[in-house]
Amino acid sequence: MRYEVVITCALDGRYNRAPIGIYFKDNWVKLHLYEGSHTYDILKREDYFVVNITSPYLIAQSVYDDKGDYSTIEYSDIILPYLSDAYKIYVVKIVKRRLVDLRDEYGDSKLMVIQGRILLERDINNPPLMPYSRADGLIVEMAVLYSRLNIVDREKREEMVKRMEEYFKIIKKVGDERYIRLGEKFLKSKSPTIL
Ligand SMILES: Cc1cc2nc3c(=O)[nH]c(=O)nc-3n(C[C@H](O)[C@H](O)[C@H](O)COP(=O)(O)O)c2cc1C
Repeated sequence: MRYEVVITCALDGRYNRAPIGIYFKDNWVKLHLYEGSHTYDILKREDYFVVNITSPYLIAQSVYDDKGDYSTIEYSDIILPYLSDAYKIYVVKIVKRRLVDLRDEYGDSKLMVIQGRILLERDINNPPLMPYSRADGLIVEMAVLYSRLNIVDREKREEMVKRMEEYFKIIKKVGDERYIRLGEKFLKSKSPTIL
């Protein structure tokens, strides 16, 4: 099973957050990073990062910018940022990096496969016991499409924007104000210079 989390890391004192898919096995994690993101650049050099288990809304919001609400955790002299609203965090040390050339529906790209060992886990906030809302799944799907708009050709981008608009229609029916505002942001900043 692949899970969606928020990875937080730091370079030269600047904090970065990004939603990323991750596989867990015992004390190990594995993730695939596409070239071009700050997370890719940072984790090419830095050996430590934090896995944040968060709400779907925070996963989606984290793709938009790095202006999160951060706290820090210290692990043997290393200070790492995590999201203050996370439910749970894992401090991870990278033990293996593998660079792979990839060709998929989004074109040619470079991928860095990272294997890391969990050094520490900590509960941060109690997750609220909430009924499922379709807005949760849909806002995350909108975030995934939003994050890929800049790496596809015009035809694919138009098709993806259509899908985002369909998801947004439903979000407007089932989501609250926060979800609607975030969905609007994704649609408004859909690379106006390119489209
Ligand atoms: C739910 C979700 C899952 C994602 N999973 C990945 C992933 O596994 N690998 C990746 O490189 N990008 C993934 N992305 C895209 C990155 O989050 C996106 O490129 C982000 O803007 C990177 O931020 P950064 O430049 O601050 O690192 C995902 C996005 C979403 C919304």
